[in-house]
Amino acid sequence: MNIQQVDYDGLIPNNVALGQDVRVKRALEKWHPGYINWWNDMGPEGFQESLVYLRTAISVDPKGWAKFDYVRMPEYRWGVLLAPALEGRKIPFGTHKGEDAWQEVPGEYRAMLRRLVVIQGDTEPASVEQQRYLGKTAPSLYDMRNLFQVNVEEGRHLWAMVYLLQKYFGTDGREEAEALLQRRSGNPDTPRMLGAFNEKTPDWLSFFMFTFFTDRDGKMQLEALAQSGFDPLSRTCRFMLTEEAHHMFVGETGVTRIIQRTCEAMKEAGIGDHNEIERVRKLGVIDLPTIQKKANMHFSLTLDLFGNEISTNAANAFHAGLKGRYREDRLKDDHQLETGTYPVLRLIDGKIQNEDSPALAALNMRLRDDYVVDCNNGVARWNKVIADIGIPFEIKLPHVAFHRHIGEFSKIKADVIGNVLGDTDWSKRRGEFLPSEDDRAFIESLMQPQTAPGKFASWIAPPKVGIDNKPGEFEYVKIA
Ligand SMILES: [Fe+2]
Ligand SMILES: [Fe+2]
Repeated sequence: MNIQQVDYDGLIPNNVALGQDVRVKRALEKWHPGYINWWNDMGPEGFQESLVYLRTAISVDPKGWAKFDYVRMPEYRWGVLLAPALEGRKIPFGTHKGEDAWQEVPGEYRAMLRRLVVIQGDTEPASVEQQRYLGKTAPSLYDMRNLFQVNVEEGRHLWAMVYLLQKYFGTDGREEAEALLQRRSGNPDTPRMLGAFNEKTPDWLSFFMFTFFTDRDGKMQLEALAQSGFDPLSRTCRFMLTEEAHHMFVGETGVTRIIQRTCEAMKEAGIGDHNEIERVRKLGVIDLPTIQKKANMHFSLTLDLFGNEISTNAANAFHAGLKGRYREDRLKDDHQLETGTYPVLRLIDGKIQNEDSPALAALNMRLRDDYVVDCNNGVARWNKVIADIGIPFEIKLPHVAFHRHIGEFSKIKADVIGNVLGDTDWSKRRGEFLPSEDDRAFIESLMQPQTAPGKFASWIAPPKVGIDNKPGEFEYVKIA
């Protein structure tokens, strides 16, 4: 079978020759009804019967991997797709560096590997759960379609991880696959595994910030796992990254369009000062300081996903050859890191300062640093839009010590530029940094659905081009 082409004949589209793998095929077919139940319960509420103009992966050829068509979401063809194997691939880092990449789970690392797959897998359905009510307040059919596209692809990412569990981890893999359908975002008894995936995504600014910041964490994690010496995981993640790019496009352009609309409205009304919040809000757009506060919140919550700055788990996973660094293959060093150091921002005697730490132990910090650079590139593009319209304002990412719940800075309170604050000061000033009840209520008041083709809510500009080059009036969702 040609690996580039996807077999669509069976229940589960795939390019892994599932037809010849009776045990795994049965296991996945058994898991399928539970998945569909989960989707119907926890997927986009109110739109399961609607026809949505979605892309479906039909190939893993980067030049032409997707086709677009109207689909009812519960009938979306969720499949198992791996990027093509690289001939003669070697383990690229860690103590096994240079050995042949593993095609089966290395026994000594089984538990560690399973945990990595489960943690990644758990984030995928979580974000669908977090976003399930947003369809009802979509600012346009275009945006509604993008939301649903992200949702079905997060569903497919769950399939991707479940395939690995079912194929490579036997009975406990099967149990983990079941558990992935049982946990629920924000449920106090059975929460999702990571904090940011138990937060609410109550409005569309949150959704765009989430896809900008939190899906970008997803990208970093996938990039690190795409380096894995366990080849099936590497190939799975490499293909997921092609889909992930669209999620970040949705987030980045979503926020860009909100900023653009705000700045244009300010310009038209002759408001040059971003602090005239009430006047700006009367224009039916979201004021820039509130956008900044939302960015502060989503950025800080997402930083927690990188875990402790100093981590033996991260060191072990790298040493074992299971999880690499961001773009490991482009880095020029020994790829083993047994001797080097890396500067880690720590809390030393109550002060935030850099300390050289063993490079292996500092891998979470390193991935987080790469993430911050990537975020800043996106933020610079937002700021260019503001500057081009001529409003003197810049969005700035807060200091990494700000509003943290995990790692070095979880013990302290800090402002957005990294000054340590006492509890009283923090309580007094919290509303300067993070959205207040008022801000939330205002944003919520704007969340009125706009479902006429080609129309957009007052607070967001139309996109520059349509999806699949469709014209502005295109009916991306036929609401049933
Ligand atoms: Fe994902
Ligand atoms: Fe994503």
